[in-house]
Amino acid sequence: MRNQLETLLIGGSGKTGRRVETRLRAKGVPVRVASRSAANRFDWNDESTWEPALGGARAVYITFYPDLAVPWAAERVGKLARLAAARGAERLVLLSGRGEHQVWPAERAVREAGAAFTIVRSAFFCQNFSEGALVDGVLHGELAFPAGEVREPFVDAEDVADVVAAALTDERHAGQIYDLTGPELLSFHDAVVEISRVSGRSVRYVPVSGAAYGELLAPFLPAEEASFLVDLFGMLLDGHNSLLTDGVERALGRKPRDFASYARDAASVWR
Ligand SMILES: NC(=O)c1ccc[n+]([C@@H]2O[C@H](COP(=O)([O-])OP(=O)(O)OC[C@H]3O[C@@H](n4cnc5c(N)ncnc54)[C@H](OP(=O)(O)O)[C@@H]3O)[C@@H](O)[C@H]2O)c1
Repeated sequence: MRNQLETLLIGGSGKTGRRVETRLRAKGVPVRVASRSAANRFDWNDESTWEPALGGARAVYITFYPDLAVPWAAERVGKLARLAAARGAERLVLLSGRGEHQVWPAERAVREAGAAFTIVRSAFFCQNFSEGALVDGVLHGELAFPAGEVREPFVDAEDVADVVAAALTDERHAGQIYDLTGPELLSFHDAVVEISRVSGRSVRYVPVSGAAYGELLAPFLPAEEASFLVDLFGMLLDGHNSLLTDGVERALGRKPRDFASYARDAASVWR
């Protein structure tokens, strides 16, 4: 059954959050965005912002930053989820990672918070190439990344947002855990070939070791964060995630979008 609960999007300006916002506004759902830079300020590192940001939200989309796999995520996400439930939230939707045991404690904390929940576990977003950490490499014509020849089922953030918007507005998704992937397995080389094709920009994928990637990150990130990312990518991209799931179809009754459609829509970013 569909209904229109006042909805809060934590991290609502991020890759999935802003797409969810567009969908909910189009459905006429009362929606508020919360993040450090939003008028409705929310900071995962400052608990005093949490309760005012929640306001009277009855549905909450939770995206954690920097990553749900960090060791301190479960404690913070659990606390926020319990606070939201205690303040009247009936529905919690958590953005999670797929094939990552590190995220399970945070998922469990949301499941046990006292409200209906949906867990949306996502594969690597296609949009990482156009809006995220990989865009600079693509624009420089050389994408160095520690993924070897592994094949990843890149998922379009538009599909993730469709699933999240459905879960926030339709109680049929309560209690579901959706593993979302795209419809095909592609190596990073394959992805970059497609990006080159649609953009006309010559881009090369350069597989690097975890250690070499850590050195590339060193000027930009604190050592601890760089080492976390190297370990995380090493685990995520070791081949165990190279399989397709039916999460998009199960949640939405349709196939996921493919990488070529995503790349065609994002091409202007790379031109
Ligand atoms: N990227 C992927 O492929 C992928 C796949 C699966 C799951 N995920 C999950 O998606 C989540 C978001 O990752 P992302 O890199 O994709 O994010 P993103 O699109 O860069 O968005 C980050 C959002 O979080 C907000 N934010 C940043 N720091 C914050 C803080 N301290 N407190 C509150 N809000 C904060 C940002 O807004 P402000 O700057 O205004 O605060 C922004 O709205 C992570 O939990 C990650 O595990 C990502």
